Amino acid sequence: MNITVVGTGYVGLVTGTCFAESGHRVTCLDIDPAKIALLNAGGVPIYEPGLEELVHRNVKEKRLLFTTSYAEAMKDAEVAFIAVGTPPGENGDADLQYVLAAAADIGRHMTRACVVVDKSTVPVGSAERVAAVLKDTAKHPFDVCSNPEFLKEGAAIDDFMRPDRVVVGVASEHARAVMAELYAPFVRAEQPVLFMDIRSAELTKYAANAMLATRISFMNEMAALCEKLGADVDMVRRGIGSDRRIGHPFLFPGVGFGGSCFPKDVRAVMTMARHVGLDFDLLRSVERVNERQKRWLVEKAARHFGSLAGKTLAVWGLAFKPKTDDMREAPAITVVEGLLGNGAKVRAHDPVAREVAAKLFHGRGVELAEEPYAAAEGADALLLVTEWNEFRQPDLARLKGIMRQPVLIDGRNVWDAEKCRAAGFTYYGVGRNGE
Ligand code: UDX
Repeated sequence: MNITVVGTGYVGLVTGTCFAESGHRVTCLDIDPAKIALLNAGGVPIYEPGLEELVHRNVKEKRLLFTTSYAEAMKDAEVAFIAVGTPPGENGDADLQYVLAAAADIGRHMTRACVVVDKSTVPVGSAERVAAVLKDTAKHPFDVCSNPEFLKEGAAIDDFMRPDRVVVGVASEHARAVMAELYAPFVRAEQPVLFMDIRSAELTKYAANAMLATRISFMNEMAALCEKLGADVDMVRRGIGSDRRIGHPFLFPGVGFGGSCFPKDVRAVMTMARHVGLDFDLLRSVERVNERQKRWLVEKAARHFGSLAGKTLAVWGLAFKPKTDDMREAPAITVVEGLLGNGAKVRAHDPVAREVAAKLFHGRGVELAEEPYAAAEGADALLLVTEWNEFRQPDLARLKGIMRQPVLIDGRNVWDAEKCRAAGFTYYGVGRNGE
């Protein structure tokens, strides 16, 4: 099939590349000429394990093309994916201007009947707005469907190739047949494409992220209770996760959730609810607990030292999670700002987010170290914010030798408390060791 993907951001680039890999001819379009120039020169604008190799292979096989021209991208296109950004707009609504502009351009440049697929995360009812725009611009018959994305950053290729499920909202048999054919190589008999009405598909994406965010805030709240009661949240986590109705994933307490999806989607669900006169009270708490949790590390450090003024704090990990350089709504931002606000000096290291962090913290006195131990040198405490693999087994003797004071605050519960204490450190974990 001839496929067009509008938007070469995270979702668009992964989607386009994976469809090319399954043998289709895919043209990825972006209105940003710099991005397209970079892709055409062999570069990949985002960090995602395995993506660069797949892009190169499919470009070489001439199945994957990049352009800024709708005329070129839409020539003979049978399916067009809209995967452009939906930044939060005023009053918490997702801003649909890019989605609707893409729909208009797709309509204007269609050369044959086309299935237009909404892949961007958009509020319920957006497909109807896309259809209305297409009705005004399209010269050929069209179908609109919703196909929300569930990719996790850092595991996006694998998630696309072996999805837990594919959700597709359709309103016609033709769209259903086209989408079934496209996803056939990636789904299995026991996990087929879940076809449903368009509004339910649109809401499913938000419901999944809001539920996962709720689990995390629940566990962070439980961790706070464990600290007060002298229980170990890690044991409680194992104990409840073994119940098949609950399950183990997404029960890890930490420094709060971040990223481009969870915080935004939690807010979007509340906004959608408000528009129809409902108050999604539960999610308000999820958000409040998360805001508090992002301050946990700083509060722990402040309580330990009495005052952070003049102290040097080392921070390991800045990205909102490992294996990405993404710092959108990263808890590390709250942590670093909190430390600076309390008069501390901050020396941070992240394996890949250094450049992103340098821009973000520009001029604010944050020292970005090339290497984790350089960040810890002379520090009064080391704070673990993002659980990159390279931070999981620190050389405790080396740390002890270079730090000014032996204090470890583990925001992800990945270090062995007993080992840390045996090596002479004061160790704090989340919900693990009394107050
Ligand atoms: C998420 C969804 O998982 C994905 O399906 C959707 O398409 C986009 O949003 P992503 O934002 O890449 O993906 O990150 P994810 O791995 O889900 O983690 C989100 C945040 O939750 C991170 O900040 C992470 O550190 C935090 N988290 C996750 C916890 O604090 N505890 C956990 O147990 C799991």
